[in-house]
Amino acid sequence: MGTEIAKRRAAEAALKHVVDGQIIGLGSGTTMKHFIDLLSKKIERKKLNVEVAASSFQVYLEAARKGLKVLDVYSLSEVDLTIDGADEIDSSLNLLKGGGAALTREKILAEMSKKYVIIADYTKLVTRIGEKHPIPIEILPFGWKGTIKRLSRFGRVEVRNCKGGKVGPVITDNGNLIVDLHLEREYVEIEKIERRIKNIVGVVEVGIFSGLADIAYIGYEDHVEILNHNR
Ligand code: 5RP
Repeated sequence: MGTEIAKRRAAEAALKHVVDGQIIGLGSGTTMKHFIDLLSKKIERKKLNVEVAASSFQVYLEAARKGLKVLDVYSLSEVDLTIDGADEIDSSLNLLKGGGAALTREKILAEMSKKYVIIADYTKLVTRIGEKHPIPIEILPFGWKGTIKRLSRFGRVEVRNCKGGKVGPVITDNGNLIVDLHLEREYVEIEKIERRIKNIVGVVEVGIFSGLADIAYIGYEDHVEILNHNR
């Protein structure tokens, strides 16, 4: 089953949240590319006055290329809606994010949003956060070895390296490092582990997003499943 079709279906379903006059936060990643394409077409078709706020340089470039009005996030304290992708989603709408290294800015936009909507293909569904991926964490370069030592209490920590285009570690849009934490045991109360990691000095943000998402559209090749808090 093609995940690109599934991603596009999820993105299409989330378009219904877009109305005239909104400021929309945009998460990052490949599913968001579909959303931005569809959003630009909806704006054009319906002659909407919609502005966007980008969570990364990647998505800023994508939005600008599609002719969207991109606002400077420094000038905003709130957005009407944020649409975002995810690496893992559980049935309570907890998320794992950071596959694209944009987790801090994505979490800031999620917190600034009146509504936070997730779009993802069916491969992202999990029964437990951390089931398929290590936990991405953004850390300051200053004192990074000490931060990693403290994070190692929870499991093995790897500094994420670039897979191409640059040699060496991934540097985020904030000028920080990304590490991936392989938890050494399963945690049921994922929000507790989110808080404990966030409490470590040197940690900028953690890719566990517990209790933030309002609704998620999960795309399959032939349908879309809706996850919300009424289930
Ligand atoms: C970036 C993210 C992305 O939302 C996440 O990695 C999903 O990406 P994709 O839509 O490419 O699967 O958290 O930091």
